[in-house]
Amino acid sequence: MNRFEREAARWDGAPWRMALARSVAEAIQAQVPLSGTDAALDYGCGTGLLTLALRPAVGRITGVDTSPAMLSRLEAKLAEVPDAGVEAVLLDAEHPLRSLPPVDLITSSMTLHHVTDLPDLFADFHALLRPGGRIALADLEAEDGTFHEDPEGVVHHGFNPEALLGLLAAAGFTDLRATPATVVTKGERPYRVFLATGRR
Ligand SMILES: C[S@@+](CC[C@H](N)C(=O)[O-])C[C@H]1O[C@@H](n2cnc3c(N)ncnc32)[C@H](O)[C@@H]1O
Repeated sequence: MNRFEREAARWDGAPWRMALARSVAEAIQAQVPLSGTDAALDYGCGTGLLTLALRPAVGRITGVDTSPAMLSRLEAKLAEVPDAGVEAVLLDAEHPLRSLPPVDLITSSMTLHHVTDLPDLFADFHALLRPGGRIALADLEAEDGTFHEDPEGVVHHGFNPEALLGLLAAAGFTDLRATPATVVTKGERPYRVFLATGRR
């Protein structure tokens, strides 16, 4: 059982995670014009904190994730408050990212640092976006490895924002920008979160 299968049931119990998702949603809405966004995809949606925060601003949004347990928390929320504009999709070998229909916006919060092959992922994002579509990806700035108490599945200790923009440029994205999104404080330590935005 991986860390997200173990952590799903208590994921939303951490106030800092709720605050982080709200801040990232606000940062996205400040940086990316969302009016006219028909279809959005939230990559590594987890329990849907960012997915549901962005829902009112877009036509429909699909939360995708590799963790059945995290997705089942999102599905439970949708069962309580049905919303035809939100879908939860499990990514696996039979249902890879590239098998999904095209979208106008791809968002993500705190997932990129769990992904080994970012050039491959960004090529998939580029293929999935309609021409003119946007990306809005939030993650940690480079940190010293203390952000996660449990290092399982942590592939990157945050990112140099400019280096991440370089990978996005290599995948074909344009109009790239990195802006501060929020700061997560754990104990006494501040961890900066940035938002990378761009266009296909
Ligand atoms: C730190 S959590 C963030 C969840 C959510 N975005 C939030 O802010 O609460 C990272 C999420 O990414 C998912 N994940 C990890 N590796 C992934 C991958 N390669 N593709 C898609 N999702 C992945 C995990 O299952 C987990 O739900």
